[in-house]
Amino acid sequence: MNSHLISFQLNTMPVSVETTPDARLIDVLREHFRLTGTKEGCGEGECGACMILLDDRPTLSCLVAIGAIDGKRVITIEGLRETPGFAILAQAFNDAGAVQCGYCTPGMIMIAYALLRDQRDPDESSIRRAMAGNLCRCTGYAMIVEAIRLAATRRGQSW
Ligand code: FES
Ligand code: FES
Repeated sequence: MNSHLISFQLNTMPVSVETTPDARLIDVLREHFRLTGTKEGCGEGECGACMILLDDRPTLSCLVAIGAIDGKRVITIEGLRETPGFAILAQAFNDAGAVQCGYCTPGMIMIAYALLRDQRDPDESSIRRAMAGNLCRCTGYAMIVEAIRLAATRRGQSW
């Protein structure tokens, strides 16, 4: 397949990359832009480690071809770090003991950010539903649910 110039917004910056349109978004983020906070677990849409926001919607970057994002907006965990919401979520994950090996954490924080953006005060079942596509081998999930509840109580009007 021939290379094309693909242009999109990445963490608020306009960017372009010359690549084949079927290249996976996760590979372009990690290898071309060196944004290695986005993790690859399964590579098959099953684990949530590669979660990013695509036009504000949680999206698995291992399943998205770069050709499909021309003109769209991508936010990775590095972009989220610039927001007040990230600091509150990171502290809540830390305080609740929700980070062990940390491999799932960027994807968990992306999904938590989107959930709390859309719901002011999600209950446990809403949190578990939102996280259903994000796997964690270490924590047993209870501490992650607790972290998201904690962030919901602390965030004020942050996001
Ligand atoms: S690496 Fe994308 S869902 Fe697992
Ligand atoms: S903290 Fe290790 S996979 Fe979740």
